[in-house]
Amino acid sequence: MSEKKAHLTIDGKEGGIDLPIRSGTLGPDVVDVASLTANGMFTYDPGFVSTASCESKITFIDGAKGVLLHRGYPIEQLAEKSDYLETAYLLMNGELPSAAEKDKYVNTILNHTMVHESIVNFFKGFRYDAHPMAMMCGVVGALASFYHDSLDITDPEHRRISADRLIAKMPTLAAMCYKHSKGQPFMYPDNSLSYSENFLHMMFGTPTQPSKIDPIVAKAMDIIFLLHADHEQNASTSTVRLAGSSGANPFACISSGIAALWGPAHGGANEAVLNMLQEIGSVDRIGEYVKKAKDKNDPFRLMGFGHRVYKNFDPRSRVMQGICDQVLGAMGAENDPLLQIAKKLEQIALEDEYFVEKKLYPNVDFYSGIIMKAIGIPTDMFTVIFATGRTAGWIAHWNEMISNPYKIGRPRQLYTGYEKRDYPA
Ligand code: CMC
Repeated sequence: MSEKKAHLTIDGKEGGIDLPIRSGTLGPDVVDVASLTANGMFTYDPGFVSTASCESKITFIDGAKGVLLHRGYPIEQLAEKSDYLETAYLLMNGELPSAAEKDKYVNTILNHTMVHESIVNFFKGFRYDAHPMAMMCGVVGALASFYHDSLDITDPEHRRISADRLIAKMPTLAAMCYKHSKGQPFMYPDNSLSYSENFLHMMFGTPTQPSKIDPIVAKAMDIIFLLHADHEQNASTSTVRLAGSSGANPFACISSGIAALWGPAHGGANEAVLNMLQEIGSVDRIGEYVKKAKDKNDPFRLMGFGHRVYKNFDPRSRVMQGICDQVLGAMGAENDPLLQIAKKLEQIALEDEYFVEKKLYPNVDFYSGIIMKAIGIPTDMFTVIFATGRTAGWIAHWNEMISNPYKIGRPRQLYTGYEKRDYPA
């Protein structure tokens, strides 16, 4: 058997080290550096820009070509033909469900949508102006305190039940965050509705006024969840895996993923996009902001542009762009001033030499915020919706890791602090 190897010569010394090269089904080969530590060396790769942190069969991204595949299926086809729950099933189980399997899965999820009534007391502890992501970190982690019956992570059935519970309860908890901030009564889920309809019902319905759910809006919501469902080893998914590698329970792990997602360089970008568009305020001020974004001495960045992996159009943003036009058309909001600013900004950035040269294309968050604003979702809820969709991916990755041999994630460091010194006498 011919095995590819990389040869590492250290400081010109004779001998050197042979490192095996491993090939996946798609994507670049990887140099397996695991044996380096036995030779007294570590690799150094801040931000993991050249590091494959694990082996996975779930999602593939070709950033240069703008390709995103879940279990082999292109995201554009899933957005057109599938729906969020079917995609969640696919991510978790590896194959699309049969019609009977899908019915059973949807039913199971619907049966888990309610949260324990005591969760209401957690919400009562939060101030009215608590950020919904802060509430989500807390209440999702708190779920672990209710389900002692299914926390044995070595039992595949326990893992499946936890996954179903998390996917089912995220929209309920997300809507509870919103209701808490509005001071309105929490709405119980209505299991006659689909996943996204149920979310909209719990967000916008009140006990005195059931919500009128526009099918275009429900479809858009489902696609927003689907497009956010997974994105291989991003910061929050890697956080979930790292937390999970210590044997932590799935609710704690997903809570850690929510915390990592919150940052403006990751899931918080959709909120930051809307805040930026509001700050720009009018089309004639775009030039000023583009100039700021290009200024090396100014920390300002155009939110919703650029991606660590995509150096081409993010395929999700193309789908999102289409949905954006549909939703705004259906709501008669085509002339929304923020949308006008967004469209002009997109055009300028796509033509500007700085953005072209650095391959900074609009990412998924650029359009999702505009759609959610049109639906009536407040800006600080955007990242919560991202978290709701991403739960399918987080839990699929956690389950994949736990189902296979794994080690606790424990990176090393290049220490540049003091050498040993004595405490002053
Ligand atoms: N505006 C202006 N300049 C930018 C931007 C931007 N949005 N993004 C990157 N650059 C520049 C950056 O200054 C750097 O320039 P130079 O090479 O001269 O130093 C170059 O492009 C490469 O940037 P980087 O920070 O080294 O790239 P990265 O891969 O580490 O960062 C990113 C990727 C997404 C954090 C970054 O593009 C960014 O901050 N974008 C804005 C925030 C955003 O929209 N985030 C959502 C990402 S998509 C959703 C998700 O997956 O969570």
